[in-house]
Amino acid sequence: MLAMAMKLTSFLQFLLFLTTLVSCDGQVLFSGFTQSSLDLDGSAIVSNNGLLDLSNGTAILNGHAFYPTPLHFRKSPGGNVQSFSVNIVFSMINAYPDLSADGMAFFIAPTKNFSDARAAKYFGLLNEKSNGEPSKHIFMVELDTYKNAELQDINDNHVGININSAISLQSQPSGYYEDDGGVFKNLMLNGNKGTQLWVEYDEGTTQIDVTLAPINVGKPSKPLLSATYDLCTLLSNSTPPPLEVSKLPKLPFLGPKPQSKLLEIILPIATAILILSIGTVLILVVRRKMKYAEVRDDWEREFGPHRFSYKDLYHATGGFKNKHLLGEGGFGKVYKGVLPLSNVEVAVKRMSHESRQGMKEFVTEVVSIGRLRHRNLVQLLGYCRRKGELFLVYNYMPNGSLDKCLHCEEHNAILNWAQRFRVMKGIATGLLYLHEKWEKIVIHRDIKASNVLLDGEMNGRLGDFGLARLYDHGTDPQTTHMVGTKGYLAPELLRTGKASPQTDVFAFGMFLLEVACGQTHVKKNAEGDEIFLVDWVLEHWNKGLLTRTLDCRLQGDYNIDEAYLVLKLGLLCLHPIPSSRPRMREVMQYLDGDMPLPELRPTQLSLNMAAMMKKNGLTTSVVSYPQILSSFDTISGLSGGR
Ligand SMILES: Nc1ncnc2c1ncn2[C@@H]1O[C@H](COP(=O)(O)OP(=O)(O)OP(=O)(O)O)[C@@H](O)[C@H]1O
Ligand SMILES: *[C@@H]1O[C@H](CO)[C@@H](O)[C@H](O)[C@H]1NC(C)=O
Ligand SMILES: *[C@@H]1O[C@H](CO)[C@@H](O)[C@H](O)[C@H]1NC(C)=O
Ligand SMILES: [Mg+2]
Repeated sequence: MLAMAMKLTSFLQFLLFLTTLVSCDGQVLFSGFTQSSLDLDGSAIVSNNGLLDLSNGTAILNGHAFYPTPLHFRKSPGGNVQSFSVNIVFSMINAYPDLSADGMAFFIAPTKNFSDARAAKYFGLLNEKSNGEPSKHIFMVELDTYKNAELQDINDNHVGININSAISLQSQPSGYYEDDGGVFKNLMLNGNKGTQLWVEYDEGTTQIDVTLAPINVGKPSKPLLSATYDLCTLLSNSTPPPLEVSKLPKLPFLGPKPQSKLLEIILPIATAILILSIGTVLILVVRRKMKYAEVRDDWEREFGPHRFSYKDLYHATGGFKNKHLLGEGGFGKVYKGVLPLSNVEVAVKRMSHESRQGMKEFVTEVVSIGRLRHRNLVQLLGYCRRKGELFLVYNYMPNGSLDKCLHCEEHNAILNWAQRFRVMKGIATGLLYLHEKWEKIVIHRDIKASNVLLDGEMNGRLGDFGLARLYDHGTDPQTTHMVGTKGYLAPELLRTGKASPQTDVFAFGMFLLEVACGQTHVKKNAEGDEIFLVDWVLEHWNKGLLTRTLDCRLQGDYNIDEAYLVLKLGLLCLHPIPSSRPRMREVMQYLDGDMPLPELRPTQLSLNMAAMMKKNGLTTSVVSYPQILSSFDTISGLSGGR
């Protein structure tokens, strides 16, 4: 077990570029020393670009560079020293060109401790006392640029093979033999040039060859000098110093196995990443579950096909963003959406609903209503429930609700008479279907312009049927809170709280007047006072000016017979006595012209109303709906004037 190193003394800067060592340990190659982990002492440093800089040109310095781990020169203890070869590229840069200085040496020694060695002529490896001492076990090849006569130096530019001593066993002036003709060429060691040095030992012949050449010349076949010396006697088996594992260079055959190092680092990182990602995924899954959580009860199982998942509705409406908002009504907001997969356009009504009371009845009704199919009804596709929320999913109606067409300012959005008449007939057809044509009577409860929607072909379609019922499930009329819309509520509905087909007819009458007149049920008169549409129409009829009530935006372009029919039918439907209102079947016949409207005069209608009110003891204290009452007052006032 031996250490191998380079050393030098000074006045010169010694640079090594490249080292190759082939021994029984295999091959060590340093192309630059940045990654080499060489052990350095004294003035030796490895510069940033990988040069090994043994000294810096200051006098009487020494520096060593040791291969970090002991190298094996014998295959087995007691065996022969194996053949080896070393190739070094070096340069000596002369700090003072006129002065010659000392030099450097390649050496093999059993220790890295040269603290008591001297610089200059002893190369930092020996001193006056230890020079020539056989116990040193030092093999060295010196590159000397100073002539020390007492050490038998041949000149101030020579190369020598030394054993335990600064006095060479063999030495030659520095130079090389050209391969071509064998001419000897002189080589200045401190010529600031890159120079190669080869040191070779042959196990069989015990011959040591030392060869030199400029960096750009290949290795000469004839060595500069040779000596025969059996290194077995020199490189004895000393107890090897303990391996300093942490200092081992990172070379595949000497360093620890790369995989184990990799595992040591990668395994904990991979484990940490795995745990982190599992945690993240768990959190995401839980958050997602919470985000899309729904309420499902056992009784809903049978309604499975009509049930939408909240997740689908959420994605369909882009997360219920305002961008997708179609409008807001008494029950909640309506969003436009496109169902994933099927790409069906839908309108999703999002209602807050805290109580579960009546929910079962309502959902049952929603589902049964979902089975209704009619071209004048907005198709209800299904529903979804969450905590405190209920969602109803309808077919999307591209032309929006009728109220927007009636009351908006844009001229091109205004419906002409033919379109209005068609929509009125369509809604009458839809309502007749709900009242009479289906397996059971369905009361709409909330007929008004905003619940009439227009499909792609401008057909009127009734929406929101049955919805009022969800909020109207009380059994005690005293506590029943009225649902529906002001102005559309029949007087008996206000008294009893009981919806019937006839209360729908009342609301339909108001709808007819609103569509024909292009007004809401309360309007401002010329003086700016609020008056009721019914009163206003009756008043004009009384004066024989009924056509003046028609929407001025029609610009006189209407069918006069149809207009009279609609206005009178509207008033008839608004009759305070439920039994005096026509049924939807009759309304259809009037509108289709299959039956003439009964002959009635405004005074007759007013007198009837007044009489009815007296008969029913209808007074302000009983009816809590002031505007309807005041409309009756006006009617009776009119009759009194007669
Ligand atoms: N199926 C649908 N297709 C297209 N737009 C719709 C649809 N349903 C509703 N809308 C739009 O959403 C708006 C709000 O509807 P919503 O039913 O919530 O309120 P409303 O009809 O004004 O009052 P109410 O709550 O009494 O029904 C409507 O005015 C209409 O423009
Ligand atoms: C060379 O190194 C020695 C000690 O390592 C230092 O004292 C000296 O200043 C250095 N000289 C130069 C020129 O860097
Ligand atoms: C090096 O050798 C010297 C004397 O030969 C000794 O005093 C010193 O302790 C040694 N240093 C180490 C680190 O072994
Ligand atoms: Mg509505």
